[in-house]
Amino acid sequence: MAKILDGKVLAEKIKSELKTKATVFQKKHGRKCGLAVVLVGNDPASEIYVANKEKACEAVGIASIIHKCKDNIKQDKLLELISSLNSDKNIDGVLVQLPLPKHLDSAKIVGAVAPAKDVDGFCAANVGNLSFGAPCAIPCTARGCLELVKSTGIKLAGAHAVVIGRSNIVGKPVAQLLLNNDCTVTVTHSKTRNLADLTRTADILVAAAGCKHLVTADMVKPGAVVIDIGITRADGKIFGDVDFDRVRDVAGYITPVPGGVGPMTVAMLLKNVLETENHI
Ligand code: GUN
Repeated sequence: MAKILDGKVLAEKIKSELKTKATVFQKKHGRKCGLAVVLVGNDPASEIYVANKEKACEAVGIASIIHKCKDNIKQDKLLELISSLNSDKNIDGVLVQLPLPKHLDSAKIVGAVAPAKDVDGFCAANVGNLSFGAPCAIPCTARGCLELVKSTGIKLAGAHAVVIGRSNIVGKPVAQLLLNNDCTVTVTHSKTRNLADLTRTADILVAAAGCKHLVTADMVKPGAVVIDIGITRADGKIFGDVDFDRVRDVAGYITPVPGGVGPMTVAMLLKNVLETENHI
């Protein structure tokens, strides 16, 4: 039976360490470290995520300012808001909650955040630095995922990591981060042939496809570390990409959904906000 990787417990431990960092920041700068969050429209999931981020900031001593924008905001207006946050001396991090409404060019909006304030690590400069292995903001979910893998104590060098999913937000940065940690990385996606043949060879399996119970027990190598990043809402419940109840009989370690990667994403965001001084 797999050991459960409890993201809530690990996130709480990290947040308590970050409280000290937030106090040091405040003493040094004479103000709290500040995060601006831009939320466009009223996507219910995004509203919950943003509320969680706000609560977590408060708990560690980071000032968070939420900018709620109408669903039909014009792109120019949104770019103006981001530009004003980029030059606001009391704001250290700027985050634009995704997804954005269809009429907005997400790449352009995300790319407008100043690299030094890009706490999501989504802009080209941060993506480039991650690939160079240079100091940068690391996308929060990917960073949380790596922390969970490291918490098992397994040797990363030479381990075969298989990532399911190639999104800019999760799949690609997770793969890059595992590669930076000397894993042998295979990235799979919706066009991959014989997915199960690949996943069965994974010492570390990261599922980030957003496809309910895509990973079944027969697809997992006995003893593997299985990290589930997927979230699918159906019938008023939340499902991961991994069939947890069956895969736990095969895996060595497994994250639950909810309570695995989710809380770690928020903890890593706070870490990124408090580390902005070190970036770029
Ligand atoms: N939407 C879902 N995950 C994320 C994330 O990590 N950052 C932002 N900005 N939006 C998201």
